[in-house]
Amino acid sequence: MNKTLLTAQYLELLKKSLLNELYLENEARLIHTFSNILNNRPLEFNHYFNITGIQSQLIKDLRTYKLNGATTVMTHTDPDGTITPVSELRNITELSHSMVGRKRLDNVQACMESVLTDGVKGDFIETGIWRGGTCIFMLGVLMAYGVTDRTVWAADSFQGVPPPTLPEDEGFDISSRVFPVLAVSLEEVQELIQRYGLLNENIRFLKGWFKDTLPSAPIERLAILRLDGDLYESTMDGLVPLYDKIELGGYVIVDDYGSCPPCKRAIDEFRVQHGISDTMHVIDEQSVFWRKT
Ligand SMILES: C[S@@+](CC[C@H](N)C(=O)[O-])C[C@H]1O[C@@H](n2cnc3c(N)ncnc32)[C@H](O)[C@@H]1O
Repeated sequence: MNKTLLTAQYLELLKKSLLNELYLENEARLIHTFSNILNNRPLEFNHYFNITGIQSQLIKDLRTYKLNGATTVMTHTDPDGTITPVSELRNITELSHSMVGRKRLDNVQACMESVLTDGVKGDFIETGIWRGGTCIFMLGVLMAYGVTDRTVWAADSFQGVPPPTLPEDEGFDISSRVFPVLAVSLEEVQELIQRYGLLNENIRFLKGWFKDTLPSAPIERLAILRLDGDLYESTMDGLVPLYDKIELGGYVIVDDYGSCPPCKRAIDEFRVQHGISDTMHVIDEQSVFWRKT
């Protein structure tokens, strides 16, 4: 097999692993189990072997969610037929190592390949890494192309999203007291990266709140800024200190533009304040990106 084909095959397999596409049936088995417990339905051993038969629609839905990194809410049906959402297992993608979905990983790959091909200098950063899946993918791209002189910066509190304090974030509390699943420790992330064989000198961690770590981070220039902090505050705290460090031809990727109104507000305001007219491209229902020209 030639090298180009091997590279493409490795990156494809990496995406499938990060998004749990290879063991999709096991997610369906878990969801089936929780759903039956919540709805007082019996669980039978043969359900697990015949999951594709009894939950074919769920498996179809899972494929779609994984494509779009979509959020779905499980439901509980009361005896009187009332359907109530159940916030545990809020997000099907929360069972994977990244919640961003296939289209967004494809976008990260396309942006990275574009800056590598065009010789746009600089490092890569994700502000808001959760379990680290997208950073793992960035490291995989660097390894696949034999790039050793660029850093993947992984910025996170490693204790979840901060509670809202700014008026722009009012009513948008997704802190760890509401969604503990969003708080993943640095040690857990490092162990996960190690599992993929990618914990190497190409990754550097910035631990703490963005407002404390990013303004003084020893980053010289960036080729890609990937914002994934959900809030107005977290988006601004990434953009303000880092935007000027992005080289011309580099990319800004905004994970939460379509899903978190406070993030959209921060992006729209920042673009107006800085006279940015570069076209925003849609990645999927939630995310956008633009190329700095
Ligand atoms: C939606 S998750 C990121 C998902 C991740 N990009 C992926 O690939 O699955 C949001 C992350 O942002 C972090 N975060 C949000 N606001 C932050 C802030 N102001 N400072 C530090 N970390 C923050 C949270 O701890 C959480 O890990």
